[in-house]
Amino acid sequence: MAASPRAFILRHTRLRPVPGLEEVRLQLADEVLPLWHAVQIETGDDDAALPYWAFAWAGGLAIGRYLREHPEAVAGRRVFDMASGSGLCAIAAIRAGARDATAADIDEFAAAAIALNAKANGVRVAVVRRDVLDEEPPDVDVILAGDCWYEAGFAARVTPWLQRARDAGIDVLIGDPGRRYLTTDGLIELGSYDVRTTTELEDLERKHGWVYAMPPSRA
Ligand SMILES: C[S@@+](CC[C@H](N)C(=O)[O-])C[C@H]1O[C@@H](n2cnc3c(N)ncnc32)[C@H](O)[C@@H]1O
Repeated sequence: MAASPRAFILRHTRLRPVPGLEEVRLQLADEVLPLWHAVQIETGDDDAALPYWAFAWAGGLAIGRYLREHPEAVAGRRVFDMASGSGLCAIAAIRAGARDATAADIDEFAAAAIALNAKANGVRVAVVRRDVLDEEPPDVDVILAGDCWYEAGFAARVTPWLQRARDAGIDVLIGDPGRRYLTTDGLIELGSYDVRTTTELEDLERKHGWVYAMPPSRA
């Protein structure tokens, strides 16, 4: 367990405008592998998760761009940012006029990063640091899910959970750059964006992100 995730984040990242979404500033890192190693040392855990929270991922960037173009998707509404990482989608939602935003992530560093980033952008974001996928969907109007389909196990859990939320009447917006575990059949494409991610694990110059709406099961 890290002594202070907040201090660790401030030590290893810099507050910077997000490429293509410059009105949002995040604590970002340059390289993932040295930071991952530092997380492993800090936590004493060789299996520590990748520091997703120190980067703006293509799926989240696409959602951010979509909300800038279509603030009506969240304006005046209660928003839940699933697998928030840095807090990017929640912050973009508040900037677009959301009534409130809650960001969920299982990573203790993500929880601290979301709090730091929300403050840096002068917005309020509530943070939930637990795995909500075995719970009923939250009592909100919109769920944003940016870049959740990079790993089979997570994808297999998040998709049915989002479908349950959609079937309960919650709008679900998915942001994805064509990850292997997202089946786009049946999703409604709302927009596509050239995005520049902030991690060297991806092709920094040319990444494309799509935003989809999930329809109800029996649409
Ligand atoms: C690729 S990042 C995307 C972050 C952000 N949405 C974006 O687009 O920049 C995926 C995030 O999912 C989180 N995550 C993985 N499994 C999760 C779960 N069961 N519940 C909540 N978050 C989870 C990870 O900790 C990580 O922060």
